[in-house]
Amino acid sequence: MTAVSVLSVVSELYPLVKTGGLADVAASLPPALAAEDVQVCTLVPGYHAVLTALEERSEAHGFADLYGGPARLLRGRAAGLDLLVLDAPHLFMRPGGPYQDPSGVDWPDNAWRFAALARAGAEVALGRAGAFVPDLVHAHEWQTGLLPAYLRAEGGPPSVMTIHNLAFQGRFPAAVFGTLGLPPSAWGIDGVEYYGGVGYLKAGIAMADAVTTVSPSYAAEIRTKEGGMGLDGLLRQRGDRLLGILNGIDTTVWDPATDARLPAQFSADELTGRVVDKAVLQTRLGLDVQAHSLLYGVVSRLTWQKGLDLLLEALPTLLATGAQLAVLGTGEPGLEAAFAAAALAHPGRVGCVIGYDEGLAHLMQAGADALLVPSRFEPCGLTQLCALRYGSLPVVARVGGLADTVVDANEMAVASCVATGVLFAPPSRDMLESALLRTASLWRNHELWRRLQGNAMRTDVSWQRPAARYAALFREMIAGRAA
Ligand code: ADP
Ligand code: GLC
Repeated sequence: MTAVSVLSVVSELYPLVKTGGLADVAASLPPALAAEDVQVCTLVPGYHAVLTALEERSEAHGFADLYGGPARLLRGRAAGLDLLVLDAPHLFMRPGGPYQDPSGVDWPDNAWRFAALARAGAEVALGRAGAFVPDLVHAHEWQTGLLPAYLRAEGGPPSVMTIHNLAFQGRFPAAVFGTLGLPPSAWGIDGVEYYGGVGYLKAGIAMADAVTTVSPSYAAEIRTKEGGMGLDGLLRQRGDRLLGILNGIDTTVWDPATDARLPAQFSADELTGRVVDKAVLQTRLGLDVQAHSLLYGVVSRLTWQKGLDLLLEALPTLLATGAQLAVLGTGEPGLEAAFAAAALAHPGRVGCVIGYDEGLAHLMQAGADALLVPSRFEPCGLTQLCALRYGSLPVVARVGGLADTVVDANEMAVASCVATGVLFAPPSRDMLESALLRTASLWRNHELWRRLQGNAMRTDVSWQRPAARYAALFREMIAGRAA
């Protein structure tokens, strides 16, 4: 196996900048690829948190003017990774989130902020930024969608575009095209043009050498009219150059046997620590401290995608079974208010923390008996993988990566000792309610519940197998280019 080097370009990186699972994937895939002899250098925007954390830094490249100001590429290390950082203070040194101002509105210059990131990636890929010259470029999400377009126009190594969520496409007015430094030939149906405007994700999908997404089921769903969000035709066209590779999680960050964030550690063979964690979680969320009540957890962005409005509708059924609900999330103000109101209306039975809290997310996985993920669509989902590992049985909609990672506790699966949770379809109030009733009856059978927990905790949710698939794809693309 020959060693290969990859430039991964991404707009978030755990634990420095994170709005969702993309940051987790960006941080945890490179170490797993190293075991496959794939060396990854990760290019990220120079947000304040990234520049503060960057160690052993050296300048690799300078730009006299990159969309309105000077910029440079810094090489260094942070978060345990080999990084290139695009230090462009006029674009990235701002308050608020990576894409939005502090009031939650998209930055008006996002088109140029992420054109700059793609441009910087192209400079590296073309060998103009010091010693690191990658054999392949791995671009993530719309924020890097122009990178395959630059490489198509200017040469350079092959590129792989990974779609983490088709709902975010990076669409901008047609006038943006003239500012991107792409040749006129890049405008058009095979390039960056998208319904009369510019589409960054569309450009990446059309022009990358291969496209991946984060689960096999999502790869199938996005080829359909219902799931394709306007891009299904193009995705179908890409044929076998579009494949689904499941995400994994960092099993050292998520290890109940060593997790220092937990009041008590535990393992599949020794679950007593879980009892302590449940009581601590119940106390923390203002719930009645009762070992016998089935405690559901939710750790999620509160958005339409996640189907949590269905959970609000199904709440009377959940409570009628005697269960409790603990919610940790942030997002749409309407959903935040509705969960806060539910906690007030059902003291001791529903608890809610509106906010983002890594430590509490770990406690939720360790203390809840079941994790609810009623998503309308879910490209992969990471919380159900954490839940499996922590023995919190996932109760999930049968969509995307949820369908690919949880085995429903039907009679056959239970008999074959492979069941790990509860699946329901379609994602609707009725089907969620019947899933809650099924889960309650599983809960009443202690011995069976224990077995399901054991199966869940033994599931391989690591990056080992997915990383091998990425490595094989990367090698195939590199060999194809050389041939
Ligand atoms: P998505 O990327 O669509 O939000 P994923 O399940 O892939 O969904 O990833 C979500 C990640 O964010 C997980 O690591 C999860 O633990 C974390 N997370 C989501 N909401 C919160 C929260 N309120 N507090 C802490 N962690 C959260
Ligand atoms: C997106 C998806 C989520 C996936 C994550 C990482 O945010 O919504 O399902 O797990 O990306 O790939």
